[in-house]
Amino acid sequence: MDDPTPPPLIEVRDLTLAYGDKLVMRGLNFELRRGEILVLMGGSGCGKSTLLRALIGLQPAAQGSVCHAGLDLALADERELERLQRGFGVMFQAGALWSSMSVGENVMLPLREFTALSEAEIETVARFKLALVGLDGSFDLSPAALSGGMRKRAAIARAMALDPPLLFLDEPSAGLDPLSAARLDELILNLRDHLGTTVVLVSHELHSIFAVADRALFLDAKEKTMSALDSPQALLDHGPPGVREFLRRGVPA
Ligand SMILES: Nc1ncnc2c1ncn2[C@@H]1O[C@H](COP(=O)(O)OP(=O)(O)OP(=O)(O)O)[C@@H](O)[C@H]1O
Ligand SMILES: [Mg+2]
Repeated sequence: MDDPTPPPLIEVRDLTLAYGDKLVMRGLNFELRRGEILVLMGGSGCGKSTLLRALIGLQPAAQGSVCHAGLDLALADERELERLQRGFGVMFQAGALWSSMSVGENVMLPLREFTALSEAEIETVARFKLALVGLDGSFDLSPAALSGGMRKRAAIARAMALDPPLLFLDEPSAGLDPLSAARLDELILNLRDHLGTTVVLVSHELHSIFAVADRALFLDAKEKTMSALDSPQALLDHGPPGVREFLRRGVPA
């Protein structure tokens, strides 16, 4: 990098997240750096998915702001938001594929919707993305014919269809066997290393957090705020006690 301090991709300032009167998180302050892999971690129900949705403009801030390259999502009009969201690849926690379409058609969907590529080009790109996640032979299969892990990888291939510079993945390795989870970690690292993709990842799988995260942000369910943000090793060595505990044993603080 020529510029030692490139501007952050996302700036979160004094963010409060709530559902009606129900406070989920408050006082969130952090930046997403270009090219980093940031892991959101914390106990079940603490607000990781809610924060992920706030980062992509699907969950309004109760207070504070989420800015993408200086644009406050709350002030963006529909067109600006749509343009921004086209640059995101998202895999939601449920990670669902359309069951009425083949795996290949699922991956081709965003390409059909958002590009002017020809049918042949669309199919080539979709096949390439499936190969990237190790699903070369699955193009014509129905999602029902895939294992749970394969379905997750297909959902990631779909999220990557448009070569998004920013990828948001909500628990991509939950429920996968250790080998599939390790492959997924490798894939995520490859995307960052070879395509320069910036990744925000929700995970509570310790091996995954240590394998891929440049930095990990810990959401404390009790305090309802973030209690740490650093590399996993630094957090394990000298993070707050609750975070060290989480990273040692995977037990929510
Ligand atoms: N649509 C909703 N309406 C009301 N409350 C919600 C809604 N979605 C989530 N919540 C609540 O907000 C809190 C945070 O939920 P969220 O799904 O963000 O947690 P999470 O950290 O992703 O949990 P998990 O690890 O189980 O996926 C929880 O108490 C949840 O019950
Ligand atoms: Mg969640």
